[in-house]
Amino acid sequence: MKVVLAYSGGLDTTVILKLLQEKYNAEVITLTLNLGQEKDYEEVEERALKTGAIKHYNIDARDEFVNEYVLPALKANALYQQKYPVSSAISRPLIAKKLVEIAEKEGADAVAHGCTGKGNDQIRFDVTIKAINPNIKVIAPVRELGLTRDWEIEYAKKKMLPLKISESPYSIDENLWGRSIECGVLEDPYQEPPEEIFKITVNPKKAPENPEIIEISFNNGMPTKINGEHMNPKEIIMKLNEIGGKHGVGRIDHIEDRVVGLKSREVYEAPAALIAIEAHKDLEKMTLTTQELQFKRLVDDEWTNLVYAGLWMNPLRKALEAFINETQKRVNGEVKVKLYKGGMICVGRRSEYSIYNKELATYEAWSIFNQKMAEGFIEIWGMQTVIANRKLKMYGG
Ligand code: ARG
Repeated sequence: MKVVLAYSGGLDTTVILKLLQEKYNAEVITLTLNLGQEKDYEEVEERALKTGAIKHYNIDARDEFVNEYVLPALKANALYQQKYPVSSAISRPLIAKKLVEIAEKEGADAVAHGCTGKGNDQIRFDVTIKAINPNIKVIAPVRELGLTRDWEIEYAKKKMLPLKISESPYSIDENLWGRSIECGVLEDPYQEPPEEIFKITVNPKKAPENPEIIEISFNNGMPTKINGEHMNPKEIIMKLNEIGGKHGVGRIDHIEDRVVGLKSREVYEAPAALIAIEAHKDLEKMTLTTQELQFKRLVDDEWTNLVYAGLWMNPLRKALEAFINETQKRVNGEVKVKLYKGGMICVGRRSEYSIYNKELATYEAWSIFNQKMAEGFIEIWGMQTVIANRKLKMYGG
């Protein structure tokens, strides 16, 4: 049997790489995707080959990730349960797609991943893989064999796997759109996250004493410039992570409902995602009509829940995106965001497509809004409310 394994180079997947050879009698090809995690990819490759992989793929998929996964999430203002920018959730369908591509190319029978049976990631992988190619088997050894961290550490020692067994009790998943941190003391939801878990955001206490204002330009709902300087979306996200992180912006701590029914305490750092979404929403408020905004919130929520729940391949996603993309044609302009000591606030916005009109809105004498017309409007607008109250007075209730 030939298997393609999604390989991060960590404890779980290194143990799985060995187990696939020993317990499943498989020849294993490993795949590592660069989605913006900072790590030594050469070391990961070396480790895979040393642990017995017959071949290793290392693919820089950052641009594809940003263009096909992150930008749709930004246009949908995707924050699961109003908090989590679905950063891990959108990476799984891309990893799944690449696993299948390589499995097909290499004539493999199966693909494998290191997800547990308690999380969302297994759903995202399995559903996407089956939807793309139902003939490829999915092997999930952590779920199938009920592996625990302690057992894995013992096994890694016994088999002398080329791992530095780190002391870190945390489970971390990272990419350009955010960093998820779970386990260890975080499992006590009343315990404040210790400073050591954060990597891309400074403690707001240590952030610069002066606020910084950045200007983000959008075109069709997608960011194109920072402070007037043209950059590709990947560069913009990297830049926002850097600037936001420096100001301690982007930390999230919340209780999340997983698809499998569990509630879990999740901590994230996602400066770029939070800043970009805040600015994008701000510009939408200026350029879209009340009716569009109201309806888009429902569509955004639907998109976010669908993607969180592992149904990236459900045709509903593209249908929702068709609506979203139609609205984004007018989401063009600039937003100024002020960053200061862990906080951010939009302090300015402008757009050629602005529906805000100073001539109408101003309280000054030269306004072209005819206040006289408001009287008749209010009469009609409030008619049913007034009648209903008259009836209540007459007959009670
Ligand atoms: N709770 C988040 C989600 O379901 C984060 C998952 C992080 N994955 C991980 N292997 N640590 O999307």
